[in-house]
Amino acid sequence: MSVNPSALRRAFASYQGAPVTTRAFVAARYVVAPLAPIEREFRGRSGLFLSLGSGLCMLERYLAELNPRLSFEGVDLDPAKVDLIARTRHRSPRVGLRLADATTLEAQADTFDGALVCDALHHFLPDTHTDVVATVARTVKPGGVVVVKDLDTRPAWKYHWNRLHDRIVAGPEPIWCRTPAEMAMLLEKAGLEVELAERVDNALTPYAHYLIRARRPG
Ligand SMILES: C[S@@+](CC[C@H](N)C(=O)[O-])C[C@H]1O[C@@H](n2cnc3c(N)ncnc32)[C@H](O)[C@@H]1O
Repeated sequence: MSVNPSALRRAFASYQGAPVTTRAFVAARYVVAPLAPIEREFRGRSGLFLSLGSGLCMLERYLAELNPRLSFEGVDLDPAKVDLIARTRHRSPRVGLRLADATTLEAQADTFDGALVCDALHHFLPDTHTDVVATVARTVKPGGVVVVKDLDTRPAWKYHWNRLHDRIVAGPEPIWCRTPAEMAMLLEKAGLEVELAERVDNALTPYAHYLIRARRPG
């Protein structure tokens, strides 16, 4: 399982014209994110996926380059990111981003073929997690998948590294990581069936990545 270099090059090229700092940030994200296990979850899928806290949509643009049957509707609170995605959308037309607060999102039931929540939940206040997951579960069509990629609380050195990383990149607000078991329980409480919950980091990388695939029954 590895990364597809030409899809990655095309996804990166879609940020042409963005400030050099933004492009450096995008490149760094492609290095740090566990692209291969995320890509595996989207292989063979099709349709429109909701993506909460999708930021600059780096993952979505890469996945859309890999699989022409995938489209994404991202949601983010940051108007600068929404503006950049709108300005460069002609280079990645199947990935949109709209300005909204994912913790109070009003989404219609049974709308999306699936959902992705990548490294976003730990930025939302913990008492919003139940409602966010319930909204995702409701807005995905029966049979649709929900992929959550987040960061574990263990081992402590990785947790502290992740905390430092987010302090530098996202600001001083605390992060609210859950263990994979806690996150899986949250998804199950929302009526989703968890099919997979696994760590996808390795011992030496400093990010405690994990990935969960859940499915709305039906
Ligand atoms: C760590 S970034 C993850 C970006 C992207 N999903 C990725 O994996 O590269 C978290 C994103 O969540 C967004 N965010 C934070 N709170 C949010 C909220 N309440 N609603 C929507 N987006 C939010 C931030 O603006 C940021 O772009």
